[in-house]
Amino acid sequence: MSRHYLSEADLSANEFRRLLVRAEEMKAAHKSGEIYTPFANKTLAMIFEKSSTRTRVSFETGMTQLGGHAIYLSPKDSQLGRGEPLEDTAKVLSQMVDMVMLRTNVHQSVVNFAANSQVPVINGLTDLLHPCQLLADMQTFFAHRGDISGAIVAWVGDGNNVCNSYINTANLLGFTLRIACPTAYHPDETLLAAAGDAVEFVETPMDACRDAALVVTDVWSSMGQEAEQAGRAAAFADYQIDSKLMSVADKDALFMHCLPAHRGEEVTAEVIDGKQSVVWEEAGNRLHAQKALMEFLLA
Ligand code: CP
Ligand code: NVA
Repeated sequence: MSRHYLSEADLSANEFRRLLVRAEEMKAAHKSGEIYTPFANKTLAMIFEKSSTRTRVSFETGMTQLGGHAIYLSPKDSQLGRGEPLEDTAKVLSQMVDMVMLRTNVHQSVVNFAANSQVPVINGLTDLLHPCQLLADMQTFFAHRGDISGAIVAWVGDGNNVCNSYINTANLLGFTLRIACPTAYHPDETLLAAAGDAVEFVETPMDACRDAALVVTDVWSSMGQEAEQAGRAAAFADYQIDSKLMSVADKDALFMHCLPAHRGEEVTAEVIDGKQSVVWEEAGNRLHAQKALMEFLLA
């Protein structure tokens, strides 16, 4: 039976932490020019139902660095766009390739794909979760501040896929996630129930950020929600991360954002381009974290 990574909960806390260590090792090795190609003759298929810059390039480059190959597929240029079911695609592709990464609209699509796949499947973002992002975010936090267990993390803004992934990770790694989010945009109830005490809701962004070791936000309208843009901009108007909010966080607090970001909406330019922001390293770590993940899943 193949292991899949559809959710943070597919890994034990130990496995998650080991991947973070391995990701840092692989990053250092790559920086020192070491060549490590355990994936010779291995192929990753990548199916994208929606746009991507970081996820596509990090997986494709990661496979190249590990000695393998990646194939990009989109509904536009594969039979998926003409109605071939994802489940049938899973049965076919998994006889040909060694691993599949999918970015889909509906989370259940990734679950169904994995149920029909003979090879490991990785969730490259769905409407529910973005678990690869959390590997990179945690790698970045651990590298700067050590283990996140016991820390306070502030989530300000939409209760979206990245927020849901923070909820899962708070539960897994033992940090407290403080969420400030308008009631109408709350995260997933089932994941919240599973996370129990790891998650707290607070009234205001200020309450969320107070003494936080990490402040995180994301766009107000995710991919697929473009039509809701105006309503969302109004609902989230008081949820912008600015220097005033950062000033109530821990003095060494880090700022993260999965990117792409909208300066002047969810975050000011001063914060995202400021000293506490680690967004570029966070994005760069997608490469190393996912190389560690692929090595683990194919081992
Ligand atoms: N953060 C992230 O997943 O970025 P992309 O949409 O560019 O892949
Ligand atoms: N919440 C965003 C994340 C993009 C990486 C989206 O789903 O569009």
